[in-house]
Amino acid sequence: MEFFLDTADVDEIREIASWGILDGVTTNPSLIKKSGRDFKTVVAEIASICDGPISAEVTALDTEGMVEQGRLLKEELPPNVIIKIPCTPEGLAATKILTADGIKTNVTLIFSASQALMAAKAGATYVSPFIGRIDDTGADGMTLIAEIMSAWDNYNVDTKVLAASIRHPTHVLACMQMGAHTVTMPTKIFRQLMTHPLTDKGLAGFMKDWAEVEAAGNA
Ligand code: E4P
Repeated sequence: MEFFLDTADVDEIREIASWGILDGVTTNPSLIKKSGRDFKTVVAEIASICDGPISAEVTALDTEGMVEQGRLLKEELPPNVIIKIPCTPEGLAATKILTADGIKTNVTLIFSASQALMAAKAGATYVSPFIGRIDDTGADGMTLIAEIMSAWDNYNVDTKVLAASIRHPTHVLACMQMGAHTVTMPTKIFRQLMTHPLTDKGLAGFMKDWAEVEAAGNA
């Protein structure tokens, strides 16, 4: 399973990349706004920290504009940058054109299995269903991942399912059990997935005993 970070904060990306298990990064216009930095500068810096796919989102709403922005981003930014496109009819057409150009895409803002299937048919490299935002409406976001994975089982689909809008570690565990290819999560979730009080307690006990081994001259 691929683990992506969902942030445009380069300090956080450096920290998680140093763990050796970071496979990619997703950004969106809101995350770029939060970073307070220039879009292309920050995406280029992210792409220099992490070798994996770095999603940069287009902001045009028409197909022509999305294609133009996507091609320009590919020209100006490092090769590991992929183009994030909203799941609209115009976005679908742009995905088809950019895919024909050999450009990798991540179709975002997916809230139904039919949208995921349409994006896959257009040739998307990734589709991003938003789990947390569905949970926020009172429905169950994980049901969408289950529906998409079961549709994928019925057909020979190359497109990877990138579970997004992750709000807690159990979202990630459920995605693993359902076979989602990728999850993108905030730094907080990476930290939560790695932390266990019994690990900390166990390590403290080992360190205390080892200090006594050293004091006895037996190290
Ligand atoms: C995915 O690529 C999106 O950037 C992200 O997961 C959205 O998450 P949110 O619902 O927490 O904004």
